[in-house]
Amino acid sequence: MLGSVPGWPAVLADGAVLLRPYKRSDARAWSSVRIANQKWLAPWESAPPGPWAEMNSTRAYGYVYQDMKRAARRGDSMPFAVCFQDELVGHLNLGNIVRRAFSSAYAGYWVDSRVAGRGVIPTALALAVDHAFGAGGLHRIEVNIRPENVPSRRVVEKLGFREEAYHQRYMHIDGGWRDHLGYALTSEEVSAEGGLLARWRRVRA
Ligand SMILES: CC(C)(COP(=O)(O)OP(=O)(O)OC[C@H]1O[C@@H](n2cnc3c(N)ncnc32)[C@H](O)[C@@H]1OP(=O)(O)O)[C@@H](O)C(=O)NCCC(=O)NCCS
Repeated sequence: MLGSVPGWPAVLADGAVLLRPYKRSDARAWSSVRIANQKWLAPWESAPPGPWAEMNSTRAYGYVYQDMKRAARRGDSMPFAVCFQDELVGHLNLGNIVRRAFSSAYAGYWVDSRVAGRGVIPTALALAVDHAFGAGGLHRIEVNIRPENVPSRRVVEKLGFREEAYHQRYMHIDGGWRDHLGYALTSEEVSAEGGLLARWRRVRA
């Protein structure tokens, strides 16, 4: 029997943006948003081997859901469904959580192209980071982004993440080993700002 995991499960919200654990009943919404966004997502994701429609079917969701649930129960990740105006529109995961002296996680995210540009993911990431540094008991969040991914770089730059590394041939994405820029934030930097959501609200105002 696993013990309780700091910060999980959690529901986080700001305005029309809500982060919550996935439910079994998300299969149809998850599959349809993933299939509609194949061209939008494929260049930036390490996809499982297989045709996109099959890997993102309602049936595939059953496996994805079980994997996410297991990883969250073990304390390895915090996988959030991102909802906007009550619809599932994206995903934000705090993954590869390592505790003790490292107390760090990697953040990954995507949003439906139909709601891009409305600050959904910066809001979601700010909520998740504040939660990770609070109830989650973590100290550092890292985000790795392909240099070509200007929209994603804008997300972390607007939130004040530090660019701190250049990882050559870092991850196998879209058919090749792709370089990534490494960005990070520690809890000290965020508390100096009064929280990341507070910083994001100031940036947006
Ligand atoms: C990266 C991503 C998550 C950003 O989410 P978002 O909620 O749209 O974030 P924002 O609203 O802050 O927009 C970020 C940037 O996207 C660009 N953008 C704005 N509207 C856009 C649109 N309709 N279409 C494409 N890009 C747009 C702008 O450069 C914007 O930066 P700006 O605010 O300085 O103008 C989203 O573009 C996405 O899901 N992309 C595909 C998957 C992906 O790249 N995941 C991250 C891998 S590291």
